[in-house]
Amino acid sequence: MTTCININGTIEDEAFVSVLDHGFLFGDSVYEVVGTRQNKTCFLIEHLQRLRRSANGISLNIPFDDEWFRREIERTIEIADNQESYIRIVVTRGVGDIDIDPSSCHSPCTLIFVTEAHTYPVELYENGIHLAVVSIKRNSKDALNPGIKTGNYLNNVLAKIEAGRLGAHDALMLNPSGQLTESTTSNFFFVQDGRIMTPSLDCGILAGITRDTVIQMAHEKGFPLEEGRWPIEALEKADEMFLTGTIKQLMPVTRLDGKTIGDGKPGPITRRLMNFYQNLLDRLE
Ligand code: PDD
Repeated sequence: MTTCININGTIEDEAFVSVLDHGFLFGDSVYEVVGTRQNKTCFLIEHLQRLRRSANGISLNIPFDDEWFRREIERTIEIADNQESYIRIVVTRGVGDIDIDPSSCHSPCTLIFVTEAHTYPVELYENGIHLAVVSIKRNSKDALNPGIKTGNYLNNVLAKIEAGRLGAHDALMLNPSGQLTESTTSNFFFVQDGRIMTPSLDCGILAGITRDTVIQMAHEKGFPLEEGRWPIEALEKADEMFLTGTIKQLMPVTRLDGKTIGDGKPGPITRRLMNFYQNLLDRLE
């Protein structure tokens, strides 16, 4: 495995950021995680668009254009020379005074971190994972909007710790009004009577690129799909559940709070969508 870090256009094996970078001090940064197929980036346009939306959401000016990102990402992937790559793009507020006011930060720091792709064990895709509904609520949209992918993930870190304590692989979080939202680094879907449901963006979730692709795919393949607001009780009659995200892609969920969902195996709609998604990745240019 080779890791290469591109820091403002210079590639290093190891890179360091200042202890006075506000990304480090306050989580004042934005980021994206991008995957590859045949070591070529997937959905890069969408990730760069979201990176810019996130930066706008925290009033951060990204000093480079998309062409620069495309070139530098390709160059870093090439030098890292892995079979498949995990790419993390981070733009921090940069170095400033040791004070929460970002006005002393004049140069954002742009990192492109490339390493060997992370993969989840096959058994998890075959058997599904265990989710726990945690007491930690997803950030309110009016506090730190989950639609902005900032480097401040403490909300999700706390949810992940709680899920681990509950013996689950990951957490399912509710918003402050008690509605379903998402997991710590993925979006959430459930299926009931052949109908696919997923929390709407206004519940306070990240507009996942995989989520969007799955929604489009479901429409194209003629599966009924509904985005909406649901309380936790809506899951009592769910036949299937799954998560979506760049790295896990579609991950079946077969236990919720220790209770088996359906027959305890990934359900038929989940499996069909997993197949469609793999085919779609194979067809990406
Ligand atoms: N996470 N929700 C949250 C809170 C996320 O952090 C992510 C992505 C998603 C799924 O979005 P997408 O399909 O665009 O990857 C949903 C990345 C993978 C991460 O932080 O590692």
